[in-house]
Amino acid sequence: MRLANKIALITGGARGIGEATAKAFAAEGAHVIITDINDQQGNEVVSSLAERSEYLHLDVSKPEDWQRVHASILAKYGRIDILVNNAGITGFLETSGPHDPEHLDLVSWQKVNSVNIDGVVLGCQVAIKLMKKSTAASIVNISSRSGIVGIPAAAAYAASKAAVRNHTKTVALYCAEKGYPIRCNSIHPGAILTPMWDAMLGEGEARIAAIKAVASDIPLGTMGTPEDVAYAALYLASNESKYVTGIELNIDGGILAGSAAAPTQEM
Ligand SMILES: NC(=O)c1ccc[n+]([C@@H]2O[C@H](COP(=O)([O-])OP(=O)(O)OC[C@H]3O[C@@H](n4cnc5c(N)ncnc54)[C@H](O)[C@@H]3O)[C@@H](O)[C@H]2O)c1
Repeated sequence: MRLANKIALITGGARGIGEATAKAFAAEGAHVIITDINDQQGNEVVSSLAERSEYLHLDVSKPEDWQRVHASILAKYGRIDILVNNAGITGFLETSGPHDPEHLDLVSWQKVNSVNIDGVVLGCQVAIKLMKKSTAASIVNISSRSGIVGIPAAAAYAASKAAVRNHTKTVALYCAEKGYPIRCNSIHPGAILTPMWDAMLGEGEARIAAIKAVASDIPLGTMGTPEDVAYAALYLASNESKYVTGIELNIDGGILAGSAAAPTQEM
């Protein structure tokens, strides 16, 4: 019961990393408010958690949706203790692209940024208001390894995730300066096998081969699971991390630990 008596809001909680995080939080005693734009899948996750959770529709890129969710939580609970800003898109399916720096389409760039960074900025703003009445609150922003390195085919995704990385530190310092009981940290997943990868992996035999190819570039030799990220979010959400704010936690099988161009004895 590492999250006993805590109220947690998770964005993009209908599947993938958000769903795994919701389940991990509920198992540790939190009341979980799952939000998403996929109402059917979001409600299915809630059904699997029974009385420990509820579902609210929330498009993170829309200020009016955040205002509605804020009002609803304020009326019902008066506070939240945990926010996981998890909702995010690559833009590969959701926009027409392209996304490389030479040819990128501005409307597609703006769509990715509106979800990935505007969504996190709005989430932090609402959370700060709702967390002042908490005794120990935590914001966990899901950035990416792509927020730390460049991604030639996904300029908007990489830039938006870099912005999440930096805004996390601004929020962490702001809350500390103000004396608010709110910590803020970022998680940087890499190569986690979720539906987000479906468009890139293909189907059937091709999918199996593509997963093998991705895994061959990962030091630990395998793609990660949504639970690998959920456990990191659980630590940052719980009071066990009470002295931790403004950090970035990589969950990437070692991808960011070094470059493939490392010197060897033969050189
Ligand atoms: N899977 C990975 O390898 C990986 C790596 C690095 C970072 N991430 C990040 O982790 C987070 C979760 O990714 P995932 O792999 O579980 O993805 P996913 O596509 O499986 O799930 C994302 C969820 O977000 C929801 N969503 C999309 N747009 C939304 C919006 N405007 N408002 C609210 N919800 C919205 C979707 O409906 C979906 O339920 C994302 O921020 C992603 O960028 C994932």
